[in-house]
Amino acid sequence: EAAARQAEFDRLIAQDQRIEPRDWMPEGYRKTLIRQIAQHAHSEIIGMQPEGNWITRAPSLRRKAILIAKVQDEAGHGLYLYSAAETLGVDREDLLDQLHTGRQKYSSIFNYPTLSWADMGAIGWLVDGAAIMNQVPLCRCSYGPYGRAMVRVCKEESFHQRQGFEILHTLSHGSPAQHEMAQDAVNRFWWPSLMMFGPPDESSAHTVQSAAWGIKRFSNDELRQRFVDMCVDQARILGLRLPDPDLTWNEQRQHYDFGPIDWSELNRVIRGDGPCNADRMARRVGAHTDGAWVREAASAYAAKHADRSVV
Ligand code: 3HC
Repeated sequence: EAAARQAEFDRLIAQDQRIEPRDWMPEGYRKTLIRQIAQHAHSEIIGMQPEGNWITRAPSLRRKAILIAKVQDEAGHGLYLYSAAETLGVDREDLLDQLHTGRQKYSSIFNYPTLSWADMGAIGWLVDGAAIMNQVPLCRCSYGPYGRAMVRVCKEESFHQRQGFEILHTLSHGSPAQHEMAQDAVNRFWWPSLMMFGPPDESSAHTVQSAAWGIKRFSNDELRQRFVDMCVDQARILGLRLPDPDLTWNEQRQHYDFGPIDWSELNRVIRGDGPCNADRMARRVGAHTDGAWVREAASAYAAKHADRSVV
């Protein structure tokens, strides 16, 4: 019986078919998906904070409306992903508790401060650009609910990336002070954006197994390289420099060579020692506590209406 179930799972994966919530799956497959989807959702929710700080400071009503829409999208992506995680038999409250108590992670990138309006452009262009590079292959993830959630998320990420590019293009071609503000934002967000793709392949704990299970379609370094190649040309159009003196086209590799990444910084930020880790978590836990009454009211409302629906 067990062998037959494993064989069926292996057949579906080998034929690049979807695994659905009701299908049998190895416990390790379930656990790594819960880990990745929950941490993806946590990243979306925490990711609302850096940009949320600038909604009241947006330079125009148009920019404010776009930024509000983007932050709202991030919240929606988080809810989408918590729902996908719940199809694996976990409870959203428990996932949030794991985030709040440091037992689950969120992306390192959101632990950096947003110091100027240009950071809204750098986050849109670089952070959401990196997210798209990572999330498009996830549309083909072997786990059905996750792959399907990614299709809509990627469409919205494209809007996020374009609005960021436009902010930077406007500033870069504005006054010298605006150009400098855009360059400063790119200088601060470039390397942390490359770290979003994860550690180098040789020190990635999950890549081999996630690739075998059709969860990870490309390795961390492959996606990172594609992202660098794409950004070099876009930076040229923006009229901004990427802060890496080693960035050079390698004809033989047909890719850009780039400088060494400070992995000790990534490890430090993941460990909780980044510039904003404490603030982000305090804000998150505070929002969860302050929002308890909303959850209680929604549950009471649902319970009252559940009775009525029973005829
Ligand atoms: N920040 C925090 N933790 C990181 C990290 C980062 N930048 N990169 C890697 N890690 C963690 C991994 O989670 C793993 O720890 P864990 O076992 O406790 O989960 C460990 O470092 C080893 O890394 P691996 O490469 O072995 O782990 P994965 O195979 O899971 O690869 C990943 C890491 C590429 C981030 C993968 O999990 C993934 O594709 N996740 C889905 C996408 C995602 O979460 N993106 C985060 C940003 S969300 C976002 O950008 C929203 C947008 O709207 C801005």
